[in-house]
Amino acid sequence: MSSDSTPYDDEIAALHAEIASDPLDDAEAFRVRYLGRKSGAVGALMGRMGEAPPETRRALGQKLNALKAAAEARLAEATEQAASAPVAAVDADGRPLDLTLPGRVPAPDAPGGLHVLTSTLADILGIFRAFGFSVERGPEIEDDWHNFTALHFPPDHPARDMQDTFFLEPPPPDGRGILLRTHTSPVQVRVMEREKPPIRVVAPGRVYRNEAISYKSFCLFHQVEGLVVDEGVSFADLKAMLTAFAEAFFGREVSMRFRPSFFPFTEVSAEVDVWWDTAAGAAGVRTGADGRWMEILGSGMVDPAVLENVGIDAERYTGYAFGMGVERLAMLRHGIADIRLLYENDLRFLTQF
Ligand code: PHE
Repeated sequence: MSSDSTPYDDEIAALHAEIASDPLDDAEAFRVRYLGRKSGAVGALMGRMGEAPPETRRALGQKLNALKAAAEARLAEATEQAASAPVAAVDADGRPLDLTLPGRVPAPDAPGGLHVLTSTLADILGIFRAFGFSVERGPEIEDDWHNFTALHFPPDHPARDMQDTFFLEPPPPDGRGILLRTHTSPVQVRVMEREKPPIRVVAPGRVYRNEAISYKSFCLFHQVEGLVVDEGVSFADLKAMLTAFAEAFFGREVSMRFRPSFFPFTEVSAEVDVWWDTAAGAAGVRTGADGRWMEILGSGMVDPAVLENVGIDAERYTGYAFGMGVERLAMLRHGIADIRLLYENDLRFLTQF
């Protein structure tokens, strides 16, 4: 045996040939096969160096290093080739796809957009967030306690009737069943049961009423509830907040008024009306021109009985609450004459916003 021949020469030569002729179509498979830490062919030969006669080891080491360098060079080639190769892609039916084609651009006259109710709700919440309110949500399926009893509705209140409320099961003899919430006020109860004052939240959501459907009422609509409870909260705070809201939503000039009202869970209570200008077909300034007041929300000072129902000390804390109709606000702002348009998904209507 000449001094630079080794017992592994044939295997090394065979590997050189294999490495040189590899098509390089799978760089990772190539790496594992020749250079992998456990299974790689080059490493395996290196591991067997100790079995070779000592006088051949020097030459063997040089040959194995050369083999390893050759494999690494080919691997670099394979990696480069993979990076620049076009990605082969097929559609669900196996037909080739050209991934270099530009994407489809939506027609400029038909872009997607937010539903007018969605954007109205976003605007309302944005205004209250800016005033430091946080957003809460509650379930649409409610029990009698949260929707009525904790809110101080007397047992024989007409709203508890099946004529007005959708019950999910026939109500038990005491009338206190599981129902679709008729307003967002149950979220007030849920928040107050969970949190101690100071409380400053708005709660948007769907509400349901078993009403005859017409241009002004639908069986489902949206409200945004508001609740502020702290020491020393007064009716002046309520008026200031709701005036600031109406000005932010409709613009500074809008004509609005507070009108005394009644709710079982507030004392005193007031409704807020905004002026509907007939000629403009939308909210506006009350001048001599034709128009009428339109109610946008109910509000009032949280009844002390409600605070006691949820374990808040009514001697120490006071609060105000309000509940506004999102559809009403959208209709007044955009001059929409029929609430049903908001639920029909007619593109001729939707694309106007
Ligand atoms: N929940 C009342 C309604 O649906 C509105 C309201 C909310 C009134 C909060 C007062 C306070 O009509």
